[in-house]
Amino acid sequence: MAKMRAFVATDSKAKPELMKVDIPQIKDYEVLVEVAAASINPVDQMYRLMQKGMQIKTSYPFILGNDFSGTIVALGKMVKKYQIGDKVYGRIKGTDSGTFAEYVAVDSQVIAPIPQNMSLTDATAVPLVGLTAYQALFDRLDLQKGQKIFINAGSGGVGSMAIQLAKAKGAYVATTVSPRNIDLVKRLGADEIIDYHQEDFSEILKDYDAVFDTHGQKDTIKSLKILKSHGKVVTIAGMPEIDFARERKLNLVRRVLFKIVSRPIIEQAKSKDISYRFFLMEPDGQQLRKLTTLIENKQLEPLIDRIFTFDKIEEALAYSKKGHNVGKVIVKIK
Ligand SMILES: NC(=O)c1ccc[n+]([C@@H]2O[C@H](COP(=O)([O-])OP(=O)(O)OC[C@H]3O[C@@H](n4cnc5c(N)ncnc54)[C@H](OP(=O)(O)O)[C@@H]3O)[C@@H](O)[C@H]2O)c1
Repeated sequence: MAKMRAFVATDSKAKPELMKVDIPQIKDYEVLVEVAAASINPVDQMYRLMQKGMQIKTSYPFILGNDFSGTIVALGKMVKKYQIGDKVYGRIKGTDSGTFAEYVAVDSQVIAPIPQNMSLTDATAVPLVGLTAYQALFDRLDLQKGQKIFINAGSGGVGSMAIQLAKAKGAYVATTVSPRNIDLVKRLGADEIIDYHQEDFSEILKDYDAVFDTHGQKDTIKSLKILKSHGKVVTIAGMPEIDFARERKLNLVRRVLFKIVSRPIIEQAKSKDISYRFFLMEPDGQQLRKLTTLIENKQLEPLIDRIFTFDKIEEALAYSKKGHNVGKVIVKIK
């Protein structure tokens, strides 16, 4: 069997490492992609197994990595939309093989052609953060033109995409950043910019329709203060709650746990007629095509912080783990 280089988690204690493994076999509905680049997301730091439904692998060994861009080199029997040689990108499904590898076998439903005005390397900065921002703003918050939204951590991978998508919709956007990133988020279109080192957003913003919380911690509960009655908070980094556990069909232990840990915020939200939801993004090829169009129309541009080579993947992960990257950290595989 032909081999490839991949960054593999072998068990919960050992550090993942670069090793030779079999090139994955494709199923009828999958394509095999020769990976050009992969981008790093905070979820890639988690190589300990998680419960089914949390979208993270459930048995060892597994290849890390979720985002990829590359060239199709083989097609499953049922794949009609793509051809060998197509340049594509995507965020894999939990059941697909990982993207920190020379090849990835991926469900053809979750991929899309890369934007024509982008290199393969840069394109890998888009899928996971772009889809997360899109789903939060439009599927979860139902953001409308003219509404006021607060998106924290505006210089992060998700935050920077969300600011641009909200502006393309015609919303009024407030965000938090460090002083060095003020000009950057201004260029992305943010209307109100708060230096989070100096000021507390919850003392400044008032009467907002929506909050997209991409940072979590104390920001999540504080964000209730800035919303109108019937406002909405959607978090990707705050406390999961019981509806999330039900939606993901998590077991009873998780349901009870999430109910207990989210009680303070749920009670505060209810008392102010605010809705509070945690969600996990879903891979989605159709929505990724919409992002491709926005990028080709120059309404959306991913921010790229640094590009590492595959040999330096551990350095790339360590750099990203510090959490002060501006946009995406990319690993060039080919
Ligand atoms: N639930 C889901 O489906 C889902 C999907 C994607 C991501 N996530 C989660 O969402 C979070 C964000 O992901 P990401 O990929 O956007 O992360 P990221 O790119 O690593 O975010 C880093 C950015 O956060 C900024 N930041 C750090 N502390 C801040 C603070 N107190 N206030 C404002 N900005 C701050 C940093 O700016 P400075 O350098 O200026 O501090 C940096 O630019 C992570 O926790 C991730 O796990 C969840």
